[in-house]
Amino acid sequence: MPEIKVVHVGLGPVGSRIVRHIVNERRGLRYVGALDIQPEIVGQDLGQVAEVGKKLGIPVSDDPRKLFAETKPDIAIYSTTSFVKDIFQQIEPAIESGVNVISTCEQLTFPDFRDKELTRKYDELAKKNNVTVLGTGINPGLLMDVRPAVLSAGCTEVKSIAVIRQMDAISRRKPFQKKIGASMEPEEFKKAIAEGKITGHVGLEESICLIADALGWELDEITVESAEAVIAEDEVRSPFYTVKKGQVKGARQEAYGIVKGERKIYLFFTAFLGATPSFDEVRIEGIPRIEARISPCWQGDEGTVAMVVNLIPTVINARPGVLTMNDVVPISFKSGDMSRFVRQG
Ligand SMILES: NC(=O)c1ccc[n+]([C@@H]2O[C@H](COP(=O)([O-])OP(=O)(O)OC[C@H]3O[C@@H](n4cnc5c(N)ncnc54)[C@H](OP(=O)(O)O)[C@@H]3O)[C@@H](O)[C@H]2O)c1
Repeated sequence: MPEIKVVHVGLGPVGSRIVRHIVNERRGLRYVGALDIQPEIVGQDLGQVAEVGKKLGIPVSDDPRKLFAETKPDIAIYSTTSFVKDIFQQIEPAIESGVNVISTCEQLTFPDFRDKELTRKYDELAKKNNVTVLGTGINPGLLMDVRPAVLSAGCTEVKSIAVIRQMDAISRRKPFQKKIGASMEPEEFKKAIAEGKITGHVGLEESICLIADALGWELDEITVESAEAVIAEDEVRSPFYTVKKGQVKGARQEAYGIVKGERKIYLFFTAFLGATPSFDEVRIEGIPRIEARISPCWQGDEGTVAMVVNLIPTVINARPGVLTMNDVVPISFKSGDMSRFVRQG
């Protein structure tokens, strides 16, 4: 195949990092366009906006339909939002222009959970236009869902799965440090979480859905505890924030997947500035019993860049429709009636 033609949509810290990586370190991928809605960068050169180190001769556009028609990319990378309520509307021009989509949108990793109707509508649209849509990233997308699911493929029995991510957020981008409340006062954190001004980590529900879907566990419900502040015992600094003793240095969240009245999936997510030890751990209660720890924790922004870029050929090769990571990495323990997992037609 000739070079894969790429358009990038959303040039925040994650988008710009993906652009730098593709331009400076990958072959066989060629940017043909870029989109953003920030007026101050529209019209500027992509290389300058993404701080690639050189001009690319590609002006940032704010007109997706025109850009897709003129450049005819093979894939559009969307790093614009975390939410299903926004992402489908944003990717509609790509789908209708026959362009495959890969996105870092957390809720797009299992969009059925937030909005079944909308997911069905866009799945049909993607099939009609013969394109694939995939939400992915490091988490959700790998660490708290695909990784435990894949490990469970080596088990003959799985009773429960626990995933524990304890992350040092110092090296994460500023929007991430902001959403875990870095440098807030404890009361301010509680209020900001309650009012939705900061979100903590987005995607625990989607990770639970991905695990349950892979293993064939039917969820009665998902319980998500409200994010709790982690308070600094000493001053701690990142490139973006100075957190004084007594202020918030990050957040802790827990979520559970309940199957037939029993907790089967446990997710424990903690991210704060200066976390030691930092690790990503999977514990499977089953046969055999598995404990798999990666330490230090996986660097999330680098990992997201890697997931998105490494999965570009996978998305181009995949069947059309709105897919999940379980469609492209279809191995895991399979519970109950095995015939349920065989796709018809
Ligand atoms: N799955 C994962 O593991 C993972 C990992 C890392 C990040 N993420 C997610 O990836 C997303 C990107 O991260 P980030 O830190 O770079 O976010 P960000 O700072 O919010 O950057 C997003 C950029 O996209 C622009 N944008 C918004 N809507 C747009 C649209 N319709 N068309 C074109 N551009 C649009 C934004 O402009 P405005 O600023 O004007 O809105 C901004 O420039 C976030 O939602 C983040 O949570 C997921």
